[in-house]
Amino acid sequence: MLLLPSANRVYASASPELARAELAVFGESVLGGLPAAQVTERGGVPYLEFETEQLTDEATTFLSQLSALYALFEANGTALKPVGVRRIDRYDDDLITIQKYQGKTNEQFTKLLLNVTLMSSAFAADLASRKLAVLDPLCGRGTTLNQALMYGWDVAGLDADQRDFDAYAAFIKTWLKRKRLKHHTDYDAPVRRDGKVIGRRLQLMLAATKDEQKARLSQRLDVVCADTTRAAEFFRPEAFDLIVTDAPYGVQHGSRTATGLARRPQDLLTAAVPVWAGLLRPGGAVGIAWNTLVAPRAEAVAILAGAGLEPLDSGPYLQFRHRVDQAIVRDVLVARKPASRTS
Ligand SMILES: C[S@@+](CC[C@H](N)C(=O)[O-])C[C@H]1O[C@@H](n2cnc3c(N)ncnc32)[C@H](O)[C@@H]1O
Repeated sequence: MLLLPSANRVYASASPELARAELAVFGESVLGGLPAAQVTERGGVPYLEFETEQLTDEATTFLSQLSALYALFEANGTALKPVGVRRIDRYDDDLITIQKYQGKTNEQFTKLLLNVTLMSSAFAADLASRKLAVLDPLCGRGTTLNQALMYGWDVAGLDADQRDFDAYAAFIKTWLKRKRLKHHTDYDAPVRRDGKVIGRRLQLMLAATKDEQKARLSQRLDVVCADTTRAAEFFRPEAFDLIVTDAPYGVQHGSRTATGLARRPQDLLTAAVPVWAGLLRPGGAVGIAWNTLVAPRAEAVAILAGAGLEPLDSGPYLQFRHRVDQAIVRDVLVARKPASRTS
């Protein structure tokens, strides 16, 4: 596997090891337990090399969605024979790359987080065959939402910052028009309860082509501007297959509540994770990225376990930690919602 050249130098240096851990998670869940891959160099360029008896079309489809994959080859000594990549991307990639702003989560990392969370759920095999439902409950300007749209899934997001909400709503409406994609807006207004505005909401349906729209393959986008601890007021219980989010880093922006009070990221997670857990389908998974310099891994594990989820805390799941900058060492924590309750 030839690794995607990353524009971000810091991420590029962490990328081979992150790719190896991501591949190991895919290996465990849908590739029948691949032997450990090696990071190698050919002609001065990093590759990830792994052994497998044969590559079925289905396995190639899974591998093709890896966040760091640029090209895939069958290696025969020093010779490389290209293997056709089968990306499931539905839209032009500028859906993910156009928006540039301070605080944007790295796009490649966002895809890794989404992939690893899916692979840890009971729905891993559905990657290319079913329209999954994903929530990013701290969605900023929508990097996770856009990646999940790329996969053809239904997406929902929530952010307390009105500027982020407005910027994302403006972006997606303009982008859909510019691409002449079939879409219609179901709701775009403040949400009121008992005469008071409790948030803003944008709900729309979009489709890549007219035929997909006819075949009822339209995707739902639902974005709310409100505090994430109120998520259950906007979404049905057990509505989502996956919850994927990049938590505030507790550095530049800090984290805010709707009332403007600053909160430590771990306090935000303590209050929000039980609410998010209620929105997750049994068998679903939550994937959270956060800054370990602010909250150690054990604390994040305890918060997820305290909400009745099963944190994955061994093997490749311990290999996602990487430095982002001076003040941020990011890690990934994934937890499953038990498929059925034991009495
Ligand atoms: C690390 S950023 C996520 C960035 C996002 N992934 C993107 O690429 O645009 C964390 C987000 O959490 C939001 N946030 C912090 N506290 C919140 C709260 N209590 N409720 C809702 N959103 C909150 C912030 O406004 C910020 O957009």
